[in-house]
Amino acid sequence: MSKFKRTLITTALPYANGPIHIGHLAGVYVPADIYARYLRLKNEDVLLIGGSDEHGVPITLKAKNEGITPQDVVDKFHGIIKKSFEDFGISFDVYSRTSAKIHHETASEIFKKLYDTNKFIEKTSEQYYDEENKQFLADRYITGTCPKCGFEKAYGDQCESCGTSLSPTELINPTSMISGNQPVLKETKHWYLPLDKYEPWLKEWILEGHKEWKPNVYGQCKSWIDSGLQPRAVTRDLSWGVPVPIEGAENKVLYVWFDAPIGYISATKELTPDWEKYWKDPETRILHFIGKDNIVFHCIIFPIILKAEGTYNLPENVPANEFLNLENDKISTSRNWAVWLHEYLEDFPGKEDVLKYVLTANAPETKDNDFTWKDFQARNNNELVAILGNFVNRALVLTQKYYDGVVPEHGELTDYDKKTLSDISKIKAEVEKSMDSFRIRESLKNAMDLARLGNKYLADEEPWKVVKTDTERVKTIMNISLQIAANLTICLEPFLPFSMNTLRGFLNLEKMDWVKLGETELLKAGHKTNKPELLFEKIEDSVIEAQLQKLQDTKKANELTEVVAVPAKENIEFDDFSKMDIRVGTVLEAEKVTKTKRLLKLKIDTGIDQRTVVSGIAEYYKPEDLIGKQVSILVNLAPKTLRGIESQGMILCAENADGSLSIVEPDKKVKNGTEVK
Ligand code: 2FM
Ligand code: ZN
Repeated sequence: MSKFKRTLITTALPYANGPIHIGHLAGVYVPADIYARYLRLKNEDVLLIGGSDEHGVPITLKAKNEGITPQDVVDKFHGIIKKSFEDFGISFDVYSRTSAKIHHETASEIFKKLYDTNKFIEKTSEQYYDEENKQFLADRYITGTCPKCGFEKAYGDQCESCGTSLSPTELINPTSMISGNQPVLKETKHWYLPLDKYEPWLKEWILEGHKEWKPNVYGQCKSWIDSGLQPRAVTRDLSWGVPVPIEGAENKVLYVWFDAPIGYISATKELTPDWEKYWKDPETRILHFIGKDNIVFHCIIFPIILKAEGTYNLPENVPANEFLNLENDKISTSRNWAVWLHEYLEDFPGKEDVLKYVLTANAPETKDNDFTWKDFQARNNNELVAILGNFVNRALVLTQKYYDGVVPEHGELTDYDKKTLSDISKIKAEVEKSMDSFRIRESLKNAMDLARLGNKYLADEEPWKVVKTDTERVKTIMNISLQIAANLTICLEPFLPFSMNTLRGFLNLEKMDWVKLGETELLKAGHKTNKPELLFEKIEDSVIEAQLQKLQDTKKANELTEVVAVPAKENIEFDDFSKMDIRVGTVLEAEKVTKTKRLLKLKIDTGIDQRTVVSGIAEYYKPEDLIGKQVSILVNLAPKTLRGIESQGMILCAENADGSLSIVEPDKKVKNGTEVK
């Protein structure tokens, strides 16, 4: 590991306003966990740091919408997130949270030091203020019309319709989301970090000094630096967050992106009194695992904060990933378009490693990737079951069968045997090479090559046939197969920790260090192995279909809540409208029209008369549920015969986006015959 003696791995702190989904896992937590486990296996000094990001406006908005406090919101989701990470086996050394006292203290101290050493610019500017609620409005608390595209619900920081970044004063007709009033501009003081001053240093440190960073990371940094950096406010007029620790800053808190990355430091402090060794000793290597939307904060802003502070190390690498989509659509918390970790763990108990495997094999390392349930099934069935599971199962079952589970002594080795054994070391070198440059996906592929090697060896050597003619030779084949299986428990340990633990149980082996990978006598002759069970099981179509159905249901529910903006029809005169005679009536009788799916025959008391109406609502209402219900009926529509029945009028319905119908009824009972106008 060259000049470094230890590694501090941080993982982006997820916002505690929703649970964890597969996008978070694939982008950040799974690769970081694999890398940490790999280093631990190499006996390196490593810490894996995580925690919840509990500040920021989305959390206060959620609290407001639900009528609870921000602390309630973060307590709930911090609990859910922490538990799902534990159950899934992300091997954090500490999982902390930014509402913790130690974090408030740490973030305050760092801000104060920067303030005391004149690292900030103090600036007064005009910002929107809600007079009714007596508070300044965060950008996200203001909506208005986008000056670029005319979308009426643009936020103060961004228009979600056209994607333009905005500042609140650019909005046309700004409205406070708190009171619904038009906000006024009022002066307020804030502290800014002059990012522009650090430009020459950033050029040297990143553009010259870290050309080895992943191209997506380096490229984003270069583009930020090249387009010129601006001073950035690191305080906000809000009440939820870390209070600004200076006089004259009442009702102000640190900007969430100022305090969140400091959360890594606070969490390390929470873990160990020796925390400074991990943050300040130049022999420690810091790695930030993040998603691509966090690059600027981890590569530019946080390093500037640390540089200004003066006593901390800077990250050595920031292996940021791109995004994972789900079934060809962007993962979205608000649209519930996600596979949630806590739900996966419920639906697929004991299959933590399967998800880890699929997310790694398809990791969005260099470009956005797509998670599909079919691919999940295929990788489980064709790779984990058919290659890895099949190989170890055959090796162990045959050992039981031929030798009662005892590892046989090998005889003289053929060239093929020797080559197979020496390939283990080659595979080890490949795994290390890709892992060391954060190509975790490739590294998994390399590691799986060892299972492929074993599978091919057994298939080529066919011990089940040889046993009939040459029992001595079979001993060698089985010995070699078992050595490969034992090596697998090391090689795949970072990727499939639960399964490798199970496999060690079958092989009756203790956990071994990485350095042993490649050894060809991990199992001594005479060692007793245990009766195996299946390491992985096939996932059936019905299981996958159930997951797809769940997503389909989400899509349907979303479509129903989406406003279908059918454009307005041409204007008409009131006289045109008043030609329509719409009355409230009550359904007296209802029955299905035979041989049709859609039609119901209704008898309606219109107040004027009792008449028959045929209506296409049979798919949405049961006849018996309609009796006694009030409906709106157009009574002067010319009669029309449908399936031999004369329909004398039309029931008014609202049509949902999916074509389903809901009857329009008065919201209080009225007399039959009452006009609708
Ligand atoms: O993008 C996010 O989800 C942020 N909560 C990540 C913060 S990372 C670090 F700075 F804490
Ligand atoms: Zn717009």
